Amino acid sequence: VHELDLPTPALVIDAARFEANLATMADAHPGPRLRPHVKAHKCTALAREQAHRGHRGFTCATPLEVVGMARAGLGVDLLLANETVDPDRLRAMAEAPDAIVTVAVDSDATVEAAAAAGIRHVLIDVDIGLPRCGCRVDDAGRLADLARAKGMDVRGVMGYEGHLMMVLDRVEQRAKVAACVDKLMVAHAAVGGPVISGGGTGTYDLHDRLTEVQAGSYALMDTHYAKLGLPFGQALSILGTVISSSADWAVADVGLKSLGMDHGNPSMEGYAVRFCSDEHVTFTRLDDGAALPKVGDRVRVWPAHVDPTMALHERAHLVRDGDVIETWAIDLRGW
Ligand SMILES: Cc1ncc(COP(=O)(O)O)c(C=O)c1O
Repeated sequence: VHELDLPTPALVIDAARFEANLATMADAHPGPRLRPHVKAHKCTALAREQAHRGHRGFTCATPLEVVGMARAGLGVDLLLANETVDPDRLRAMAEAPDAIVTVAVDSDATVEAAAAAGIRHVLIDVDIGLPRCGCRVDDAGRLADLARAKGMDVRGVMGYEGHLMMVLDRVEQRAKVAACVDKLMVAHAAVGGPVISGGGTGTYDLHDRLTEVQAGSYALMDTHYAKLGLPFGQALSILGTVISSSADWAVADVGLKSLGMDHGNPSMEGYAVRFCSDEHVTFTRLDDGAALPKVGDRVRVWPAHVDPTMALHERAHLVRDGDVIETWAIDLRGW
């Protein structure tokens, strides 16, 4: 099947760019130095490609991602880099088949819930500046002691400097990231264990003190991350069909129900996107751009945020030179 014959909106992955992205990252962080984040794609088939490049441990954001990865035979070393107190989901992770599961904890309540559900391994999640999850640096040792007292193996620490991913000045970014990792190292000195985990696509090359980097977006990329000029190409786009047009604008069937919009409008080469509504993107000509397409023509839309875009689709088509060579289920959606 040619990509232009797919029913639209169709999520497509450019195989050449995707493979180049995986190769570039595997060069920078070979094998266990990268723990790819599956939240970026929610797709076990894609994760299998990352495992084939040597990364056998994965980062997850939801219990369902952990359990789904285990069921797919990708459970060598799964980290839930997120907090939960849900006893059923914790137990499902503890009992996930053929899997080693480690869960992030940042409070007495999360330690106690993990222990009660039979979770065997934890990481102490440390607040290193992003006001989201993570304990205070000076509380990390106490939480580690509590977890050990409850019989769990404390593998080390994690901290995610998500607030620094988009710092455009690299000198400034490097200094700010170093200050965050300083905090994580202080926590690690109190916690112990072999693992120091953190980082993302925007800071992937600024980490020599972490034992592993949790990048996810690098595999597919989006227009937001493209602004950083990283050596990863945009592999993910959505094909749409023009369903209406006027003298001044045209409309394709790629709306906010097929696009993660929290980083703003998508982009279209040669056109200016005016706005998206549920099932529509309205776009206009650029002054020096091409004429507007006709009803029935196919157009390509580049999403601004990869993670929520993937989560809106049931499948993604891997495309080489226009031909669909594989179709992957996005099978880790939900919680
Ligand atoms: C805990 C955690 N680690 C790592 C990442 C890295 O993701 P990305 O590669 O998209 O920067 C994220 C993304 O939000 C995250 O939440």
